Amino acid sequence: MINKMIAATLPYMPKKLVWLFSKRYIAGETIEDAIKASQELNAQGIKVTVDLLGEFIKDLSQATENKDAYLNIIEAFEKNKIDGNYSVKPTFFGLLIDPEVCYQNIRTVVAKAAEYNNFVRIDMEDSPCVDEEIKMFRRLKKEFPKNVGLVVQAYLKRTLPDLENMMDMQNGTGLNYRLCKGIYVEPAEIAYKKYEEINENYIKDLDFMLKNEIYPGIATHDKNLIQPAYDLIKKYNVPKDKYEFQMLYGVTPELRQSIIDEGHTMRVYVPFGKDWFGYSTRRLKENPKMAMLIIKALFSR
Ligand code: FDA
Repeated sequence: MINKMIAATLPYMPKKLVWLFSKRYIAGETIEDAIKASQELNAQGIKVTVDLLGEFIKDLSQATENKDAYLNIIEAFEKNKIDGNYSVKPTFFGLLIDPEVCYQNIRTVVAKAAEYNNFVRIDMEDSPCVDEEIKMFRRLKKEFPKNVGLVVQAYLKRTLPDLENMMDMQNGTGLNYRLCKGIYVEPAEIAYKKYEEINENYIKDLDFMLKNEIYPGIATHDKNLIQPAYDLIKKYNVPKDKYEFQMLYGVTPELRQSIIDEGHTMRVYVPFGKDWFGYSTRRLKENPKMAMLIIKALFSR
């Protein structure tokens, strides 16, 4: 109860206080910080996907700035030979203002990554964005069959039917999805709410992907999903280069290491940028126990 109350007040907490907690989850504010964090992960045999923090912009000039920022990130990461790819949030490129402008912005980013034979993952945002993000993915996939992937959310009841509908794209170059539980607060009509139901659907979605030779990014820190994932990998005899595990920067490093020790590919999502506040408060809401720790740290000084 108290943890929930703390989580609810997070957006109103002073930035300095939130930073105490956030620095564990954010690679820093600059490209140099993100490169350094990525190099450290690469040195441990971990791939990265880099994300410039920010979402839900208010005008299209910000969308252009964000696109240009991503072009710089790609140039810098490729120059530094980082073993990693790129993650983008469509609302950061204007999805909710003008979907066509958003498409053109993301297309430019994917084209830049494609110049380096690299890959851009379209993060999935809240439910009003899902149709548009799938539409965008379909369009991009036609032009850049090997350079673009999508995220799907196991808490959405529509995800398995969506996966079935998108099977027409599974020809020749293959499909590549990140499977996560989903982080936004969605209504019960469209989303599973119970932990067990979400996990059950997660495994169904993963089963569908592996059975159909789709490349999954198995994105979770839930140890109760890792063993069932291993079981499915074994059941379908999936080669090591046809799937990967993914985790967020700074979250459950021991579990992450145990997966690496089993010989599986691991990719860490590396968020960075000045706009770390919204991202951090979401992480804190996910794990209010951490918020309690911040309060303790604050008062023990
Ligand atoms: P769950 O929430 O059940 O957590 C399991 C355990 O993991 C917890 O008990 C705790 O021990 C640990 N844990 C989880 N979060 C933690 C935290 N913040 N701090 C400390 N410990 C924590 N969502 C989305 O809607 N769209 C997207 O595009 C993405 N993209 C994405 C990329 C990657 C690489 C990951 C790993 C996750 C996402 N997500 C996402 C977020 C995802 O939907 C989900 O909210 C979180 O990953 C938490 O779900 P888990 O599967 O970890 O399970």
